[in-house]
Amino acid sequence: MDTNIVTIDLVGREYDIYIGSGLLYRFADFVPEELEGRNVYIVTDTNVETYAERVRKIIKDSGAARCELIALRAGEQAKSFTNVEKISDWLVDKGISRDSIIVAVGGGVVGDVTGFCASTILRGVSYIQVPTTLLAQVDSSVGGKTGINTRKGKNLVGSFYQPAAVIADIETLQTLSKRELLAGYAEVLKYGLIRDAAFFNWLEENGEDLCDLNEVAVAHAVEVSAKAKAEVVQADEKEQGQRAILNFGHTFAHALEAAANYDGRLLHGEAVAIGMVMAFDLSVRMGLCEREDMERVERHLNKIGLPTRASYIQPALTTSVDKLMEIMGRDKKVEKGKMRFILTNGIGDSYMEDNVPEKHVRAVLEDSLGGKDGRSASGSVAKSFGNSKVRGLWRSVFSSHSSQ
Ligand SMILES: NC(=O)c1ccc[n+]([C@@H]2O[C@H](COP(=O)([O-])OP(=O)(O)OC[C@H]3O[C@@H](n4cnc5c(N)ncnc54)[C@H](O)[C@@H]3O)[C@@H](O)[C@H]2O)c1
Repeated sequence: MDTNIVTIDLVGREYDIYIGSGLLYRFADFVPEELEGRNVYIVTDTNVETYAERVRKIIKDSGAARCELIALRAGEQAKSFTNVEKISDWLVDKGISRDSIIVAVGGGVVGDVTGFCASTILRGVSYIQVPTTLLAQVDSSVGGKTGINTRKGKNLVGSFYQPAAVIADIETLQTLSKRELLAGYAEVLKYGLIRDAAFFNWLEENGEDLCDLNEVAVAHAVEVSAKAKAEVVQADEKEQGQRAILNFGHTFAHALEAAANYDGRLLHGEAVAIGMVMAFDLSVRMGLCEREDMERVERHLNKIGLPTRASYIQPALTTSVDKLMEIMGRDKKVEKGKMRFILTNGIGDSYMEDNVPEKHVRAVLEDSLGGKDGRSASGSVAKSFGNSKVRGLWRSVFSSHSSQ
């Protein structure tokens, strides 16, 4: 299989994203100048240490001066001040200097915390992203957002700091759990929904092959997604405007994640899947988009195996419309006191909107949570509850997963 290359064209900080199968074995071929004579520091997590060791071996056999590795305990809680201190101390103890290079091998968690450390240690050291989850390959490793969580919320501390390269080896996805893979799929679908109706059509045809890890389908989807993100980031690197469309469904999703207490039961991509349906519902209520489009998206998500209603994940939530409204009011996406939503005129055509009547937002939340007396805010009972078989399946997933 060929290696596909997507370039992020930012003046003075351009870099390539390499996409293909088995790329870890050829790691040194992609970044020879970054390795030659340098000290290299790999940050990974305990679940993917084998991949990191593979990269370390290749680096040691290349022209690097030395190569050290640290493995964090896997999980969202790794994005912490404690780990920033731990990684920074470790880097200093191991003799990091300005011309060293840091390599993040793992999912979005490892990428985010490592990128943040790279941007602050010695006021900035180069780093390379080696994403090993679908979510990280199509989203978090591209575009230079780094960050950690604080007691007050997710991703509240961070920086914009572009990597020197991204090496996405799709072979690593073979060891990823199906649930994590599907969570990444929600972000892939997002690109079709926000700006590329033809890609959505392609996903309707090929989404199941992708989820069965057909290499051609995965490589195509990762490339299209990386290109879409590259174009948006190039136009608006620091999210002053257009980049916000990448947050389609995310205002709702972040509220659901917060309501689920980040206890590991609800995955980010699952929340995004529900949030995107909510964003369509809001657009339908505001007369922007046909209901048919929303139903098509919901059908596709259900077919792939993602949840589409907050009521499906109810066992993981302790929440109400008021609570979700309050959480959304604290979101980073609040501008000048107004909640910002990414709305849609239909599949592939989204835009940013600051003037959204609260009553519509409340109705969307109420409907997704199951409505008053089992009746949706829009009045239709069966439709608003989605697919009862899928709902039952998800309820059992969230009931059987004990909180971590
Ligand atoms: N920086 C950005 O632009 C951006 C964008 C979206 C999401 N994010 C962040 O990304 C994080 C979520 O990323 P994620 O979904 O990759 O989660 P993750 O990094 O926690 O990975 C999910 C799980 O899969 C394991 N894993 C990773 N690769 C594997 C592999 N190949 N085989 C087996 N197991 C593997 C991990 O150890 C972890 O247990 C969140 O913190 C989110 O805020 C950042």
